[in-house]
Amino acid sequence: DKVCLAYSGGLDTSCILAYLIEQGYEVIAWMGNDFEAAKQKALKIGASKCYVEDLRQQFVELMCFPAIQANAIYENVYLLGTSLARPILAKSMMQTAQKEGCQYVSHGCTGKGNDQVRFELAFYALQPSIQVIAPWRDPVFYKRFAGRNDLLDYAASKGIPVTSTKSKPWSMDENLAHCSYEAGILEDPDTTPPEDMWKLTVDPMKAPDTPEDFTLFFKAGLPVKLVYSEKGSQKTVEDPLELFLAANAIARRNGVGRIDIVENRFIGLKSRGCYETPGLSCLRSAHIDLEGLVLDREVRALRDQLVTFNYAKILYNGLYFSPEREYLEDCIVASQKSVNVRCRCYKGSFTVLGRSSETEKLYDASESSMDEIGDFAPSDTTGFISVQAIRLKKYGKKMEEMGQS
Ligand code: ARG
Ligand code: SIN
Repeated sequence: DKVCLAYSGGLDTSCILAYLIEQGYEVIAWMGNDFEAAKQKALKIGASKCYVEDLRQQFVELMCFPAIQANAIYENVYLLGTSLARPILAKSMMQTAQKEGCQYVSHGCTGKGNDQVRFELAFYALQPSIQVIAPWRDPVFYKRFAGRNDLLDYAASKGIPVTSTKSKPWSMDENLAHCSYEAGILEDPDTTPPEDMWKLTVDPMKAPDTPEDFTLFFKAGLPVKLVYSEKGSQKTVEDPLELFLAANAIARRNGVGRIDIVENRFIGLKSRGCYETPGLSCLRSAHIDLEGLVLDREVRALRDQLVTFNYAKILYNGLYFSPEREYLEDCIVASQKSVNVRCRCYKGSFTVLGRSSETEKLYDASESSMDEIGDFAPSDTTGFISVQAIRLKKYGKKMEEMGQS
């Protein structure tokens, strides 16, 4: 029997790899990021093959950009960095499993988290006949490896090299969009993350004293160009991946994108998470700003109710490969416009300096101006307020009567 394992090179998935071989499986290791040492390790442990995929371009274009268009955010704080990565990983992994004729796929997610749900729902949507091996939910496995020391002993017995670096008192998951920190000392929601935990961004208090300004160009709601300056000369990037990387670099050196939240996991548990989402948080904020200028009020309100909330929930809960996600993505498109947003990153903050659009004319400065009369007479507004007040006067009257009785 053949199994395709999502392999990270870490202690858990290395032990799972050895364990699956011990159980009689042939294991194809699969990795979503290029890490030559991990590949060698997988082969050394006994994987018959190891696939390494570079999915960065896909990740930016298929996941991060639509999330920006939808202003996606979970529980008002979390920018979904891990949730966004899972569909791309699951899809590529399933392609490998199919190519290799694997009847099984396996992963090292715990039984309490979101990732197990995300991977498995994606696997089943992409290949309904696939069978999943989730060792951390199998009593035989989790009783045998009850603690980290059991894993270390097993690794030693199997000749699995363990990197000598002392393991951090939290767990991390990093991709192009973010780095997440959970568990360990962070499980006490009142524990402030130690400064040396954050690995992507500069400490906002130690960030440069001069603000860094740049301009983002959006077309149909998608970032298409970033103009910034580096060492005194002006740089322009247009390729989606390069643009995303450049936005990341600007935000990182100015300490932008740190987040700390107690969130609700899909399975119903609360969990404390810290995240660094440098570039994505700037791109999303710039996109939100754009909508003020060019999006109709009611279209925006409908989009917020229908798309923003639900898109984030779908991503978070691992329902990316679903009819509801396809439907919402169609809805996003209708609300997207072209705008230039001038931005600033400074000591942990992102601000918008100004915005303009050559194509969208919804905002009319003279119509909105306090200094000009424009197309409608100020006296017209008297009737507007009277009509709006009908219902509220009734309400006020009832309150008065109740107060008297
Ligand atoms: N709580 C976040 C989420 O559910 C981050 C999960 C991090 N995953 C991990 N395997 N470390 O999206
Ligand atoms: C895990 O359980 O593998 C990490 C946390 C999560 O998926 O939410």
